[in-house]
Amino acid sequence: MQQREFGHTGLHVSPITLGSWPMSGDRYGRIDDSEAVITIRRALEQGITSFDTAPAYGAGHAEETLGAALAGRRDEAVITTKCGIVPSASGPPGRNASRASILREIDDSLRRLRTDHVDVYLVHWPDPKTPLEETLGAMEEVQRAGKTRLVGVSNFDVALLEQARQVRPIDVLQVGYNLFDRRMEREVFPYCREHGIGVMAYGSLAYGLLTGGFTPETTFEPADWRSNGIAFGQPILRGDNFKHNVRLVDRLRDEVGRPRDLSVARVALAWVLRNPSVTTAMVGARVPAEIEDNVGAAAVSLSDAEAAQIESLMAQAAGRVEAFRPFGSAMEVWS
Ligand SMILES: NC(=O)c1ccc[n+]([C@@H]2O[C@H](COP(=O)([O-])OP(=O)(O)OC[C@H]3O[C@@H](n4cnc5c(N)ncnc54)[C@H](OP(=O)(O)O)[C@@H]3O)[C@@H](O)[C@H]2O)c1
Repeated sequence: MQQREFGHTGLHVSPITLGSWPMSGDRYGRIDDSEAVITIRRALEQGITSFDTAPAYGAGHAEETLGAALAGRRDEAVITTKCGIVPSASGPPGRNASRASILREIDDSLRRLRTDHVDVYLVHWPDPKTPLEETLGAMEEVQRAGKTRLVGVSNFDVALLEQARQVRPIDVLQVGYNLFDRRMEREVFPYCREHGIGVMAYGSLAYGLLTGGFTPETTFEPADWRSNGIAFGQPILRGDNFKHNVRLVDRLRDEVGRPRDLSVARVALAWVLRNPSVTTAMVGARVPAEIEDNVGAAAVSLSDAEAAQIESLMAQAAGRVEAFRPFGSAMEVWS
């Protein structure tokens, strides 16, 4: 599989990244750990080199599963993990990107991942209570200690990226981007291209909505965070919006996917990868069949006419919010 470079860093990754949030047992409903390990190993066999995780996913459980699956094969993988959303024994994880917390978090992550370094270390969400200089100073320390190769941020808007770059270079940005949420195209992506920042696009399948796996009657179990109807801060999974959007995805399958014998997931991922700002499209999966389907998107090239057809269909999506307000805003899961 052709590899892509994060900006001008010399670090290359597969165009598809396997994300581990759905494997965490946290907020995505039930999981089977042994199935998750098989899924990660199947991803490697299929040519996926890039794996994303975070301590916040199941209070370290997703990192442990990834560490177990990659044991003995660490050199084949580019591992991204994060800091700044800290698991808590007494309640939901909270934002803390202070120096002391980051220096503690990286060692905990390395232990769970069974490695002496990660490849990309990201500040998971901005922490309004900690000065950015302190946060990025700690990231610099982590890098100087050889515990990460690259340093980046996640869910930062352009104003924050600009502020961050005054402190130190930012190698990678992770943000939500998919056919239901194109807000990054406006300012964030052009900024990343201008400054050579690699982009990891998360939620490329809109948390399952863009897979054709839902019907208008689909409901989520209470432990599944999607049951609140909000994704990317937008009510696209809620009530009538959800029913409408499921039917729209069915049309995507019938009108764009079927003539080319492509699954909706492949269409949605190929569309994300078409954007020249995107280095890698991230997908969550917890069973091997899903990753086998998703990996096929790397070989799909959509024509301009097909992209236009997809975009005009998706312009009819319900529940989209136009503004991007990540900093201090109510995020659907963590605050
Ligand atoms: N930086 C951040 O703030 C942030 C935020 C969100 C996510 N992320 C990262 O990005 C990754 C990707 O996002 P995500 O996993 O939340 O959402 P996603 O990739 O948009 O959707 C994942 C879900 O889609 C379903 N799925 C995947 N492939 C499928 C296929 N081929 N056919 C049918 N269903 C399929 C699975 O649902 P079922 O399991 O129900 O089958 C899976 O759990 C995460 O795992 C995480 O690593 C980062």
